[in-house]
Amino acid sequence: MRSIEHGKRNGFASLGKGGLNRDSFPMRLFAKGNARHWNPADIDFSQDARDIAAMTDDERWWTFALAAQFMAGEESVTQDLQPFVAAMAAEGRLADEMYLTQFVFEEAKHTDAFRRWFDAVGMTDDLHSYIEFNEHYMQIFTEELPASLYALADDPSPRNQVRASVTYNHIVEGTLALTGYFTWAKICTSRGILPGMQQVIKHIGDDERRHMAWGTFTCRRHVAADDAMYDVVDERMQELIVPSMGVVTGTFDKVEADGGQVPFGVDMNELAEYAMDKLGRRLGAIESARGADLAVIDVDASPEALEERFHVEDSRELAAAAI
Ligand SMILES: [Fe+2]
Ligand SMILES: [Fe+2]
Repeated sequence: MRSIEHGKRNGFASLGKGGLNRDSFPMRLFAKGNARHWNPADIDFSQDARDIAAMTDDERWWTFALAAQFMAGEESVTQDLQPFVAAMAAEGRLADEMYLTQFVFEEAKHTDAFRRWFDAVGMTDDLHSYIEFNEHYMQIFTEELPASLYALADDPSPRNQVRASVTYNHIVEGTLALTGYFTWAKICTSRGILPGMQQVIKHIGDDERRHMAWGTFTCRRHVAADDAMYDVVDERMQELIVPSMGVVTGTFDKVEADGGQVPFGVDMNELAEYAMDKLGRRLGAIESARGADLAVIDVDASPEALEERFHVEDSRELAAAAI
């Protein structure tokens, strides 16, 4: 029997009879991502610089705060995914390892795209003041996210994998980033401004749907293998609901405390509702794996279908909001 687990390698998955299983879910995500490469350096931000210059102070501050939160978030997830790559490699899950190498490369590109945007609009001073007022943001990105991912370095148990995935894929990507795209769409699409940023968000959103689908897949396979893992999913989500809602509402509180106006018709309750809805539906997708056959989970495309469905619904909702 061949093994490619770390420390036990006596063969190679790619040399085995039948080759790699192209139908496995992570291999399909890998192939899809390879077909959709994009280069942040190809995006033209010259109109964005003119649009920023034409904004009111409140609009500009809100736009920079949103972009700074995104950029620091992308940098964090670039770094913090690495223990998950190592855990999959050590277990000999080659398809997951291959997909995660693409995943981490995409997060690095996302960081680069936001940095190029800030450079193009002339914001090269220190930007920490756009995130540090938000204590919940700092809690998630400097404590919760790295702690739950780096726990895998010491103990890559299913429980720790589920906690890491819920934090990374379902809270940071599935709730915070998705709510952020919704806000970008309100800013950009409703006014027809920031065409470079619109392209960035479109490409990133496309990558992120695959990332979140991988997270749902990972939680599903652990829940199918051990039903107690569903409680771990639920427990981690409960732990992070308050800080993640705080990330969303923190920017509104700051504007109010400073006596400013919330621009672009962005509504706090609408955003909070949007975030909670996404969380609930993703939890439902994981729940449906309880008692399921692991062999079926491995080739089941439903996590991807779920993200595509969200995307279609969001596009519809935003088109209606823009009228
Ligand atoms: Fe990203
Ligand atoms: Fe991501």
